[in-house]
Amino acid sequence: MKAILFHLFFLLSILSLNAQDGHELWLRKKTPLPLTVISSKKSPTLDIAVQELKQGWQGNSGAAVTLILKNDKAIKGDGFKLGQNSIQANTDLGILYGVYELLRRQQTGEAITNEVLNPSYEFRILNHWDNPNGSVERGYAGNSIFWRRDSSFVVTERDKTLWQEYARANSSIGINGSVLNNVNASQLILTPDYLKRVKTIADIFRPYGVKVYLSVKFTSPALLGGLSTSDPLNDSVKAWWKAKAKEIYSLVPDFGGFLVKASSEGQPGPQDYGRTHADGANVMADAVKPYGGIVMWRAFVYSPNDKDRAKQAYNEFMPFDGQFRDNVIIQVKNGPVDFQPREPFSPLFGAMKKTSIMPELQITQEYLGHSVHLVFLSTMWEELLQSDTYQQGQGSTVARVTDGSVYPQKHTAIAGVSNIGLDTNWCGHHFAQSNWYAFGRLAWNNGLKSEQIADEWIKLTFYGAESAKTNAANYASEWNQNFLTPVKQMMLESREAAVNYMMPLGFHHIMSANGHYGPGPWWGPARVRADWTPPYYHQAGTNGVGFDRTKTGSDAVSQYHEPLASQFNDPKTCPDIYLLWFHHLPWDYKMKSGRTLWDEICYHYDKGIQQVRGFQKIWDKAELYVDSARFTAIQQKLRSQSSNAVLWKDACLLYFQQFSRMPIPYDIERPVNNLSDIIANDMRPRR
Ligand code: GCU
Repeated sequence: MKAILFHLFFLLSILSLNAQDGHELWLRKKTPLPLTVISSKKSPTLDIAVQELKQGWQGNSGAAVTLILKNDKAIKGDGFKLGQNSIQANTDLGILYGVYELLRRQQTGEAITNEVLNPSYEFRILNHWDNPNGSVERGYAGNSIFWRRDSSFVVTERDKTLWQEYARANSSIGINGSVLNNVNASQLILTPDYLKRVKTIADIFRPYGVKVYLSVKFTSPALLGGLSTSDPLNDSVKAWWKAKAKEIYSLVPDFGGFLVKASSEGQPGPQDYGRTHADGANVMADAVKPYGGIVMWRAFVYSPNDKDRAKQAYNEFMPFDGQFRDNVIIQVKNGPVDFQPREPFSPLFGAMKKTSIMPELQITQEYLGHSVHLVFLSTMWEELLQSDTYQQGQGSTVARVTDGSVYPQKHTAIAGVSNIGLDTNWCGHHFAQSNWYAFGRLAWNNGLKSEQIADEWIKLTFYGAESAKTNAANYASEWNQNFLTPVKQMMLESREAAVNYMMPLGFHHIMSANGHYGPGPWWGPARVRADWTPPYYHQAGTNGVGFDRTKTGSDAVSQYHEPLASQFNDPKTCPDIYLLWFHHLPWDYKMKSGRTLWDEICYHYDKGIQQVRGFQKIWDKAELYVDSARFTAIQQKLRSQSSNAVLWKDACLLYFQQFSRMPIPYDIERPVNNLSDIIANDMRPRR
């Protein structure tokens, strides 16, 4: 049955082939089969549900599907009960989510059984780092889809179409919120022209169940309201935030709330007034509380004077556990430093027991090759979510300590820093769409496996999209074997490959300061704060390499619950993947593999290159199964990635070799770039 459905879908897809520029994402147009939809109620959201079913139905021809709005205790929030020919939910949005699930399963061939599907998190939010002038901080897919370079507020038909397509794409994977502007917020966002545009966006998003949120600048009361202070305990400041909230809710009655980066990287915050994070967050929380709004307060804080940046968020936030209002959620980056290719989980997860905590992931590939490198981030997020914090005994995974399974959190949420821009394919790299998709899927179900997510995404994005270059009779099985399997393997391996050729064995923050794209372990001008420079993190010298975070070092290990603290503290039990994160070790340190540390480093860099070369082979072989536009675009990106991987390896090995003074093992390829040339070119991005 599965095979027949799949085959049928293929034939239908061929009929509707059109240019594949990637704009349709995982929602490519299909030729639907006839269907009757029975719905006893009408609403903008239900109308979309009916329309989606009718335009995408790939089940039995002439079937009928019933949409049932009926309270059921087993269904939570906007969850739903799926059936072959029915979807039941407590809310209209639950019905719409059920429709997307049903259609997805029809396309991917996944079994459609009677089951209840509930979201892991209440709030599943994209954070856009979009500036009012249309630029996007750490954006690699063009300018903002919300704000314009010329700061014009005219809403065009194109804007409306794009916002509607965006909302639909989010809704189809369960994302229910968007923060429309950068965490490095401009106060301008709270001015009338911007708020009017926010209202227009919210109106378009609403039927898809996507709420809007705004990042706000802590000093807005002084900057916009003309107050002499923005001290959160000052009565006029409190009144200002209340009035601003009232104004926003009069335009957007279902406004989600605020995201705040405060007392961090030069952004103003409560500490400027001698107040605490709790004081700062609570004043805003009180303002949005009457309307059901929330405040997401970021824990991304570190001062230049502390000895170990990795410890600071924990040190700053733990004392305030339990002091935040119940509509405040502390937003914590996955790792203790900053979205590196690999970090251990932030020790705040599970440690703050009386405060709602939400993970922040980075979908945009700031440290992972921008929109040039193919890196499927799902495996990284799965690694995070499945990490055991041990905070309430074994099995207290990051997923469970954040989704309400372990602590009675008032709210549960997860955020991803978006990789979306005005590029036709939204994300710059066609495969970067899979990271948007994966974020949504994991936000909905934090127990999903990356293998399944990749499988779904490849089928939805590529199946039947070639220009009929192959024999349709055997298409499904050929495609499975020659496209799905190898491409999925490539995706699942891609993050580890990037770790290998960029920062293996616990290395972190050794990228170029210039855009965080290429290698830059040498970069450390005296004028720059040390904790922004790679030598602070790798600590390479003739005596060894790595950051000593053991009990006799910075003691960051003690922020983890046992048995992790002891495990991380001892290089013999510390997982290799975190070795140089927690330890400073001699170059000839004997690794578990029997190799010296230096040789192990060399082999990891080399392996990364071999992996990317393998990806190139996989992709070239897949040509028959992909439309030529996407095939060529991806092929070219893989070529750049491959040469960039070599650059990373040459740069890091030649730089560290100055300290190790050991030969690069003779059975791996020799460097093809001179270190001096790489350093000289550091300020010029290479693609
Ligand atoms: C990183 C990133 C910044 C961003 C910051 C944040 O440091 O490079 O551009 O503002 O994270 O998350 O606030």
